[in-house]
Amino acid sequence: MSNEFKILMVCLGNICRSPMAEGMMKHQLSQRGLNVMVDSAGTGGWHAGENPDPRAIKTMQQHGIDISKLVARQFKKNDFDQFDLILVMDESNEMDVLKLTNSESHHKKVKLILKYTSTSDLSVPDPWYGGMDGFEKVYHMLYAACDGVIKSHFE
Ligand code: 4NP
Repeated sequence: MSNEFKILMVCLGNICRSPMAEGMMKHQLSQRGLNVMVDSAGTGGWHAGENPDPRAIKTMQQHGIDISKLVARQFKKNDFDQFDLILVMDESNEMDVLKLTNSESHHKKVKLILKYTSTSDLSVPDPWYGGMDGFEKVYHMLYAACDGVIKSHFE
């Protein structure tokens, strides 16, 4: 395995927020010429094998980022060893991930992605049940969060 730093984005279904976060992070990293591996997963497996939600694809496309080829998968315990940083979208994702292991070194890798922003919000709201405006809001929250992650870890 290479020494490349690896980041995993995690939400519930891996079809809305975390693939948007994966696409956003890859985009911002490449703009800065940084070589970091980024993947995403869902705590639930219902959508495994699916591409992102069409509303997530469209929102990212409107900002020039293509996530249409990403494929959902379920988070697995081995991800704690494979990744250096596990960024969860909300507190429920955080709880679901943390309960899979008792290892302190594993727990230390898990962070709420909005902790990298100045907002007091802890959770990226799940846009699944709403309209396009919810996806646009998620886009802007993730833009700020990914910028914060890069400034904190790579600059
Ligand atoms: P995500 O959104 O966690 O941001 O991918 C969801 C997608 C699907 C479901 C829930 C949340 N679902 O219940 O199927």
